[in-house]
Amino acid sequence: MKTTTDLQRRKLLKYTAIGIAGAATYPSWAKATNGFVRINSPSADFLPDVEIELTMNTADVPILSGNKTHVWKVTGKVIKGAANVLDNNEGTYLAPTLRLKTGQKLRLILNNNLPAQSILHWHGLHVPANMDGNPMYAINHGETYIYEFEILNRAGTYFYHAHTHSVTARQVYSGLAGLFIVSDDQEQSLNLPNGDQDVALVIQDRSFDGQNQLVYSAHMMQRMQGFLGEQILVNGRPDFVLPVATRAYRLRLLNGSNSRIYKLAWDDGTPLTVIGVDGGLLEKPEQHAYVMLAPGQRLELWMDFSERAIGSELTLHSLQFDVAAHGGMGMMGGRGRGMMGGGMGGGMRGGGMMSVSTLPSGSDYPILKIRVAKKEQGNHTLPKVLTPITALRIKDAANADNPKTIALSMQHMSALLNGRSYKMDDIQPDEMIPVNSLQLIEFDNGFDGGGMHGMMNMPHPMHLHGEQFQIVKREVNARSGDSYASVASGLIQNGWQDTVLVMPGEKVTILKPFNDFKGLFMYHCHNLEHEDMGMMRDFLIK
Ligand code: C2O
Ligand code: CU
Ligand code: CU
Repeated sequence: MKTTTDLQRRKLLKYTAIGIAGAATYPSWAKATNGFVRINSPSADFLPDVEIELTMNTADVPILSGNKTHVWKVTGKVIKGAANVLDNNEGTYLAPTLRLKTGQKLRLILNNNLPAQSILHWHGLHVPANMDGNPMYAINHGETYIYEFEILNRAGTYFYHAHTHSVTARQVYSGLAGLFIVSDDQEQSLNLPNGDQDVALVIQDRSFDGQNQLVYSAHMMQRMQGFLGEQILVNGRPDFVLPVATRAYRLRLLNGSNSRIYKLAWDDGTPLTVIGVDGGLLEKPEQHAYVMLAPGQRLELWMDFSERAIGSELTLHSLQFDVAAHGGMGMMGGRGRGMMGGGMGGGMRGGGMMSVSTLPSGSDYPILKIRVAKKEQGNHTLPKVLTPITALRIKDAANADNPKTIALSMQHMSALLNGRSYKMDDIQPDEMIPVNSLQLIEFDNGFDGGGMHGMMNMPHPMHLHGEQFQIVKREVNARSGDSYASVASGLIQNGWQDTVLVMPGEKVTILKPFNDFKGLFMYHCHNLEHEDMGMMRDFLIK
């Protein structure tokens, strides 16, 4: 199979130093492992602490009662390292949960046994460009990609997922996503709940047909809004119930949904105690009545059940919020099944978007239930101070007086960044960034003059590959007042983040370091339908 793959290989050569003579034939170092042909070679001077082989394959797993569901499943095998670095999440479509420590050197051998090209990206990890899973590195069925990198990130709940050109949404939906949990000594010294009291919860939405098979339709209206499943799954299971003991827990939440944004709250009014975000622990715990969790984002909660009665239950809900598109011209005027009821703050104002899901975005629905199942003495107290975080300063930015603006827009059935659509290897002058620089970047979602000419603004969770960033400020224009008020106090400003929700009418300014590695690092909307529609670009760090 020539064409794209050869093109990709040539690009691969452009950004890595490896020389291959004749891209159409396999180079001499390409060896077959378990029948898979290597696209790149392991390097002789990289000595891994942990080596894992991951194979992407089709599988049938039990999700609903009755027929099994056909999914795409990653299955792993530890080649070097402790057995507990990997949990295959057997019986679910979730990719293996990986548990690594800061400073460890990791080799991942990725085999593609799917009937399609694919590649995995390590979301939130600071790794070299050619280890980052850029779509240009997609491998064919029967091929192997070898990743080698050191874990430079601090402790945190990271994750990984397919990042294949124009089909990321569909591939993630089919199952290609899993957790990548990093721990470090500073975090370990805090004596946070661990073992059974450290629980990862992956929140996703899926739709099924009468035979229990996944339904994914990406007609234009769904692509504009993003695909919304009709059912919430947690860790790949419907009607998820977490049994707990009467003690403190660390709950790590990942929004692994394609486009659904959650407004998380406990149903009994207990505030959420947030201890961590995308890039690990906060400086100190924060309490919020609710927290917004957009696709790609993670959240760590502290929850103490010690005062609760055995047999009592608690539900984590997504609360109502206003998803109105602002200043739209009614271009989405279709008639979706189960479209939003009027009133209810559901947001049909301004000729905005209608939901195409029976579980509309911004409505109130349960996500998971917690059942206090047994009495147990805990020995954990919530630390007042969690982890030191050095605040980045605007004056240290290379472009302190000249922020890089990224205008988010949806227009004429496309989703754009600075008016541009994704194109592989298409770096424009304003997308080049000097290595080892700190950059001031602002995402403008119709703050400056949006809502004109049939444009409309939707919430966009903006994600940048590479190092974590800090949020400097949020500004919102007057037109967005009401809908913004329905989410504002649930937007977390502190800590290290890699994905930030930019609401309609809002401008969010961040400071992001681009240290250590040259090459291509993507920035894109993590609404995966938007990403596939082209709301994605590369920075070239040089
Ligand atoms: Cu989680 Cu480029 O994405
Ligand atoms: Cu990423
Ligand atoms: Cu978007």
